[in-house]
Amino acid sequence: MRVLLTGGSGFIGSHIALLLLERGFDVLILDSYVNSSSNVINRIKAYLDKKDLNYKLKSINGDIRDKKLLDNIFIDSIKEKKPIDTVIHLAGLKSVSESFSNPLHYWDVNVIGTLNLLLTMKEYKCYSLVFSSSATIYGLSNSVPMAEDHKISPINPYGKTKVAIENMIYDLYNSNINVWKICSLRYFNPVGAHPSGLIGEDPIGIPNNLFPYLTQVAIGRQKSLNIYGNDWDTDDGSGIRDYIHIIDLAEGHLASIDYLNSKESCLEFVNLGSGKGYSVFQIIRQFELSTGCKIPFSIESRRDGDVAKSYADISKAKKLLAWTPKRSLEQICLDGWNWQLKNPYGFQ
Ligand SMILES: NC(=O)c1ccc[n+]([C@@H]2O[C@H](COP(=O)([O-])OP(=O)(O)OC[C@H]3O[C@@H](n4cnc5c(N)ncnc54)[C@H](O)[C@@H]3O)[C@@H](O)[C@H]2O)c1
Repeated sequence: MRVLLTGGSGFIGSHIALLLLERGFDVLILDSYVNSSSNVINRIKAYLDKKDLNYKLKSINGDIRDKKLLDNIFIDSIKEKKPIDTVIHLAGLKSVSESFSNPLHYWDVNVIGTLNLLLTMKEYKCYSLVFSSSATIYGLSNSVPMAEDHKISPINPYGKTKVAIENMIYDLYNSNINVWKICSLRYFNPVGAHPSGLIGEDPIGIPNNLFPYLTQVAIGRQKSLNIYGNDWDTDDGSGIRDYIHIIDLAEGHLASIDYLNSKESCLEFVNLGSGKGYSVFQIIRQFELSTGCKIPFSIESRRDGDVAKSYADISKAKKLLAWTPKRSLEQICLDGWNWQLKNPYGFQ
């Protein structure tokens, strides 16, 4: 089976690529490298070579907004008699703060880019799609765990682009319910790294998210960890979030492909998280315990748009996709630290 993986050299995409290739899929990665390094592809190849695996991987440097390029990718695949069976669509921009300062760019890349992709899929009769949506679409709420029927009310432009894409997908599916097979996966907080330490999260600039910040403090790239509020309505006063090991999340995509392959047509919106909530202080404690590193931190004021608690109800994913997250918080800390130790400056 040939899979087109957009954004395949990014944090999440690289882990999905590796798992797909290990399972024998023929993988085409399309990425513009605006937020990733082409070294990722070499790392993936090095890992598979070391395992002596025969694999089919092609990487294309390009933009999902380039319709001609998308046409050529689909046409070439048909000519090679290996048409694209499924698209896993991750390419996009994901910084909440940047989406406030440059919203039109977010609408352009995320929404127009996806529109282009869906138009091309329809044209070349590729009807199977896994899309990376986000828990950000649930907006402000302390009602946990959050199931898929939780109120959709994004509070930032980034989240709004994800909702727009989910709406687009919904309309597309309903225009021809006999052919489209779509899973929109709403990720919570993917963290950790591949246990080999060859691929992992490599944010450009100062990390926005807790885990890469934490590992960069541990390695000495950042001075101390900022904790935004210690007066939340939680047991220890720090915010509670759902952290899912990146390999568990990647496995959710393979389970989604299996699910899509078992159906004539379908449209499903599915949470992918660990189903557990951990506070910032719990994360620091576990990280220190697992790695022996000391994490200096300072308490800052709350950020606009944060909530006390957010974690997923993952019963739908478990039932529908026959998938369950297997990796512990300790594993997350160990794998994330292993990646940071082996690559203090990421892929550079
Ligand atoms: N990481 C998270 O916490 C998280 C949570 C929820 C949803 N998501 C979504 O998952 C997807 C992947 O996230 P990630 O964490 O791997 O981010 P990432 O930035 O590491 O990966 C995205 C990839 O898309 C590429 N890209 C961006 N614009 C492109 C374009 N116009 N054409 C082609 N490639 C382009 C980037 O170069 C990058 O390699 C994104 O759509 C993101 O919104 C991520």
